[in-house]
Amino acid sequence: MNIRILNGPNLNLLGTREPEIYGAATLDEIIQGLCDAFPSVALTHFQSNHEGVLVDRVHEYRQYDGLVVNPGALGHYSYALADALRAVPRPKIEVHVSNVYRREAFRHTSVVAAACDGTISGLGADGYWAAVAILVRRLSV
Ligand code: DQA
Repeated sequence: MNIRILNGPNLNLLGTREPEIYGAATLDEIIQGLCDAFPSVALTHFQSNHEGVLVDRVHEYRQYDGLVVNPGALGHYSYALADALRAVPRPKIEVHVSNVYRREAFRHTSVVAAACDGTISGLGADGYWAAVAILVRRLSV
């Protein structure tokens, strides 16, 4: 089973960026935790701060089993990323580390949410864990 984890702009700063909102775990620690928690899953991670690079990567993901995507701020306005995700006929879960509904109004809208099977928001780094667990469960039946 191949599951891809995709992270968008500024998520490379997890652990140091506004830790009161995003927590203390770095992206490397989160990914390592997922690899430890799901040893039988081939997990691959990619992060970019660039919209077009993320779109290109989503196109490559068409051949894989499932996708977890934290689009960062692009989730709120990137129709290009949303369209790319729509083109991937795979189970996809959107994750936001913070509870976007408790924050500024512009974060309450996700244009990629409708391109995904579901969204997890506000559970911190556990959101990635929950998304992978759900994908594993769905891909196993
Ligand atoms: C985020 C929420 C977004 O609003 C923000 O722009 C991010 C991170 C989250 O994981 O909580 O960069 O996607």
